[in-house]
Amino acid sequence: MLETIAMDGPAASGKSTIAKLLADHFGLLFFDTGIMYRAVTLGALLENIPIMDEESVSQLAEQMEIDVAPPSIEDGRTNDILLEGVDHTWAVRQPEVDENVSIVAAYPGVRAALTKQQRRIGQRGRIIMVGRDIGTVVMPEAALKIYLDASAEERARRRYEECLAREEEVSYESVLAVVKKRDQIDSERDVAPLMQAEDAILVNSDGKNIDQVYQEIKALVEEKLIGSKG
Ligand code: DC
Repeated sequence: MLETIAMDGPAASGKSTIAKLLADHFGLLFFDTGIMYRAVTLGALLENIPIMDEESVSQLAEQMEIDVAPPSIEDGRTNDILLEGVDHTWAVRQPEVDENVSIVAAYPGVRAALTKQQRRIGQRGRIIMVGRDIGTVVMPEAALKIYLDASAEERARRRYEECLAREEEVSYESVLAVVKKRDQIDSERDVAPLMQAEDAILVNSDGKNIDQVYQEIKALVEEKLIGSKG
């Protein structure tokens, strides 16, 4: 499909940061699908629905009104995340959501409900969609697919630094343990597991800074999307 980019990869591989830069540069819509799984997880926690109650959590995913809007405040956010009209932008990044979101994302009912919404948004085109199963399930027809990877240690270090910047009290070891656990659940689940699509281009960001990774992927976009037009 014209001007659609699918970007997948494990937690904290830098997907969102890079995708946002690309979206701004090429005038594409940036859409981070992980936010939707986080929103359902937060919704369940707020409504005291037990995370292990698959049926109730799946029902919540079907019913919940999740809105991703342009940022209304300049506090580092890339979007406003509204649940039932209420701003929960930073709450969806809480450690409690991190700890539970992979369980919620493994429920087939939750995935069916959210995949439907993501496809609808993707069909509009001119979009860079970020997640775990965008190239394999949500937009298998995407014009360009990138799989952005990095070692668990490097990704945990980045997440840890983000937590420190927000003055959250966590240890590097606990962040690394959560990253590894999430990798395992995301990769081993039965429905739409994290994996590289056959036609995705692998980019490894170990030892590279944001600008180096951005330049590398920007060149791929220029070659694949813009180059293919002419
Ligand atoms: O990218 P993130 O850390 O915000 O993702 C949160 C969780 O949602 C993570 O456990 C993987 C899951 N996820 C998914 O299963 N499919 C997607 N398309 C996006 C995220």
